[in-house]
Amino acid sequence: MASKQHAEGHTVSYSQTTLTELMIPAYANFGGKIHGGTLLSLMDKVAYVCASKHAGNYCVTVSVDNVHFLAPAEVGDLVSLIASVNYVGTSSLVVGIKVIAENVQTATVKHTNTSYFTMVAKSEGSTKAIVPPLILESAEEIRRFAAALKRRRLRSYVTGRMDDYKADFTVDEETHSFLAQERCEIRLRD
Ligand SMILES: CC(C)(COP(=O)(O)OP(=O)(O)OC[C@H]1O[C@@H](n2cnc3c(N)ncnc32)[C@H](O)[C@@H]1OP(=O)(O)O)[C@@H](O)C(=O)NCCC(=O)NCCS
Repeated sequence: MASKQHAEGHTVSYSQTTLTELMIPAYANFGGKIHGGTLLSLMDKVAYVCASKHAGNYCVTVSVDNVHFLAPAEVGDLVSLIASVNYVGTSSLVVGIKVIAENVQTATVKHTNTSYFTMVAKSEGSTKAIVPPLILESAEEIRRFAAALKRRRLRSYVTGRMDDYKADFTVDEETHSFLAQERCEIRLRD
């Protein structure tokens, strides 16, 4: 049960958050590029700041959509994570995050990734809290809200189908033919 009612909404800009961090050598992988996990951790942090500011409560991460690493960040880059609330449901919020990496010496900026974090607001006692409505002030904000709602409905449909699939799953002839062209070899132990 949600525990807190907010009558007034907040604009997107009210909670918009930018976090900038220098990429130090300790963040690099063996190839000299920044670990994807380092960026994910920073994304979780900025999503939390943005969501909790809008919600007026602390928030927990429920799911992460569409993390595609488009370009690597390098040691020495200034990575900025720009987060804004794209959508609010009842207790959940979707925070859209754009990550860019800037090389200050060459003045080049790369878009490294974009993702959507779904967060749920919690109040004391860890009960879900109702989040304030989102005030949309531009066509772009309306587009983001509508796109997030579409993704939410699609996810719900796909999750339902996957649950049916898991419930019905048995290894049979159909499964063997389904996997026939795949790069696996079946060697059943008794
Ligand atoms: C997230 C949590 C509060 C959901 O609790 P629940 O009682 O199952 O809640 P509901 O099913 O009512 O979902 C609550 C909201 O989250 C949304 N939600 C739930 N699962 C979701 C998922 N996998 N993806 C996106 N949204 C999801 C629901 O749509 C709902 O949104 P709404 O209130 O805006 O309509 C609970 O599972 C939890 O506390 N999880 C642990 C979170 C955590 O510790 N995160 C840190 C990870 S390290």
